[in-house]
Amino acid sequence: MRRKLAAGNWKMNGLAAALDELKAMSEANGGETEVLICPPATLVAQAASVAGKIAIGGQDCHAKTSGAHTGDVSADMLKDAGASYVILGHSERRTDHGETDEDVRAKTRAAWDAGLSAVVCVGESLSQREASNTLDIIAGQLAGSLPDGATGHNLVVAYEPIWAIGTGKVPTTDQIGEVHDFMRAKLEKRFGEGVGRSVRLLYGGSVKPGNADEIFAVSNVDGALVGGASLKAADFVPIIEALGAS
Ligand code: 13P
Repeated sequence: MRRKLAAGNWKMNGLAAALDELKAMSEANGGETEVLICPPATLVAQAASVAGKIAIGGQDCHAKTSGAHTGDVSADMLKDAGASYVILGHSERRTDHGETDEDVRAKTRAAWDAGLSAVVCVGESLSQREASNTLDIIAGQLAGSLPDGATGHNLVVAYEPIWAIGTGKVPTTDQIGEVHDFMRAKLEKRFGEGVGRSVRLLYGGSVKPGNADEIFAVSNVDGALVGGASLKAADFVPIIEALGAS
């Protein structure tokens, strides 16, 4: 059985006062469902000290362990600050920073070397979906972004259709199911059935308390990667509960 995972990506949001929301989430969290919050890098250490049973993650890391890379953060630094996960290859990184599948693969390897689990993001744009290229895009991103050596512990894959991020638009449950079943089959083929079955697959893109139940009922959806609705305990706790009840 895969343990369900409710993950929050705070993106570039959150000053120290936001830790009150994390504390409220932590108090409401019984621990049956795994919960992960990825705050901005500036808050990782403080978040880790108040998170209780909630895991803390980074939102990106450099592929190198140290060196002359002004402004960057290494996987070792995240681990040292108390993180156990790192999000890699988010579409905002791919777009804003030109990250390629090859970059994401190198970063994933660096995360694993540091002992972090990687949440590797894939997803198609609206024009790619409209051109019926979704599954080809996902296949290419999985093949290119994932190094050899994945396990159910070191890898989580998040399907985030770019057109659903921050837009309030959500794919139909059939569309989500089609991609998640496809990703499961690809992972089983590449890494073997045992590993492929144990990697958790998250859906991300406009997940809210109001749509969480139906998304979590889709086969091969093991949780969510939530942006906006992970910033406040009042929104995120109901999503955690919906996942626990699914
Ligand atoms: P929203 O939940 O705000 O649409 O963001 C999704 C996302 O990008 C999570 O990584």
